[in-house]
Amino acid sequence: MTIWQLPSMLLVVISSVSTHPHHLFEYDELSQYVDSHQEEYVQTLRDWVAVESDSSDVLRRPDCHRMMDMTAEKLQAMGGKVELVDIGVQELPDGKTVALPKVVTAQFGSDPSKQTVCVYGHVDVQPAKLEDGWATEPYNLTDINGNLYGRGASDNKAPVLAWIHTVEAYQALSIDLPVNVKFIIEGMEETGSNGLDAMIVAQKDTFFSDVEYIIISDCGWLSRRPALTYGTRGNCYFFAEVEGPKQDLHSGVYGGTVIEPMTDLIGILDTLISPSGKILIPGIREAVAPLSDEEWKMYQDIEFDIESFKSKIGVSQLMYSNKVDLLAHRWRYPTVTIHGIEGGFSGPGSKTVIPAKVIAKFSIRQVPNMDPAVVKKQVTDYLNSVFAKRKSPNKLKVTMIIGAKPWLADTKHPLYEAGKAAVKRVFNVEPDLIREGGTIPIAKTFEDVTGKSIIMMPIGGFDDGLHSQNEKMSRYNYIEGTKLFIAYLHEVAHLKKD
Ligand SMILES: *[C@@H]1O[C@H](CO)[C@@H](O)[C@H](O)[C@H]1NC(C)=O
Ligand SMILES: [Zn+2]
Repeated sequence: MTIWQLPSMLLVVISSVSTHPHHLFEYDELSQYVDSHQEEYVQTLRDWVAVESDSSDVLRRPDCHRMMDMTAEKLQAMGGKVELVDIGVQELPDGKTVALPKVVTAQFGSDPSKQTVCVYGHVDVQPAKLEDGWATEPYNLTDINGNLYGRGASDNKAPVLAWIHTVEAYQALSIDLPVNVKFIIEGMEETGSNGLDAMIVAQKDTFFSDVEYIIISDCGWLSRRPALTYGTRGNCYFFAEVEGPKQDLHSGVYGGTVIEPMTDLIGILDTLISPSGKILIPGIREAVAPLSDEEWKMYQDIEFDIESFKSKIGVSQLMYSNKVDLLAHRWRYPTVTIHGIEGGFSGPGSKTVIPAKVIAKFSIRQVPNMDPAVVKKQVTDYLNSVFAKRKSPNKLKVTMIIGAKPWLADTKHPLYEAGKAAVKRVFNVEPDLIREGGTIPIAKTFEDVTGKSIIMMPIGGFDDGLHSQNEKMSRYNYIEGTKLFIAYLHEVAHLKKD
């Protein structure tokens, strides 16, 4: 407890309203308000999910623009100071350009005596079609046994709405917001947050100047236990191109005489990682921060069921058989994934072609203390050297097209202490402290550009199926998650200014 809390505590004790330490009477009111507005919240989510804001499909761009407008209108109707920030255009492969969805910024409260938090979220979604194997129409939010199925429900529309409803609840009950709340909501997250980095840099000394903390709720819990996320892996994405003959050849006519690009490519790809998951590129494993005893202990305490993890993904065996190894390799060790090969023959049929040029796509998840610039050189040098051993006349070209750094927070930071207190208040348990195997590059950008502390506070369930068929958000997580945010603002208000 900080000294800031003392006056309200004394007041509470003296007036005998409650024996709870602080603000509890307000929390109960706010919490009841949220419960009694559940149907409204679900309806708003339905309206938002109905907008097919798939940022990867240029033909859906009008829907993305509409989604940003709807977000801005909602925040405006609540009396926020709202801006739709133009972040320019996206270049398409054919040389044409298309406008990027604007970024919505909003501000509620500007009391200099209060902390200012900024909530980041996105309202664009991954593609989804009924024929992909959805049990319900992906853009028609459908409630089945308390689960709300729809594309974008969990990633990230319900969490964004839960934050909006948090502010709304305070307003509706005429309870002063304990902190100033800003929002930054984008519409290109699923395709790499095109244009957002530049916007953050440009607004560093304006929009972000008074922001103390940045809160991101764009991930999920690990189990049924609430979680706080303190790290994400980065990603370095590579293209390895092998080029040989000037055109595709007939394998009957030329096979056996030419040195084939695909064979070269598969040969070098096979030198990246061993069957037991050991990365073979020199220098990569050496760069990884060692697993501390404390970390080991933390993983040991986390609720994680290996059998249900296996059955969820439909495999009989995993790379490791114990919980700590699995969690560690999911979160805090790098890995190589080969995603595909462009240019070779694919699809049905049995074409007997020798492809003239093939491009492998693979990526390496990044963890502390790897540095994408160093990884780029390590991978390029290594592949060139293994390729040279083949003495092939073909040409190899390695390029790194994405180099996203990992992000790691200090779980001892007061932001996390505040998070634990909020989880305790709403769910009456200690949260799991977890990391995310995936990449949320914007976290690192926020940290590097603004120098502010960041917390990831997920409300999505472990089985929400992000990016997958039958994505859902449970009513429970949506509603209790809103209460968590309400409680969190109270806790953050009691942190000393950085
Ligand atoms: C959404 O699904 C419900 C049934 O769950 C159906 O009644 C309704 O017509 C559907 N709406 C749209 C827009 O398809
Ligand atoms: Zn997301």
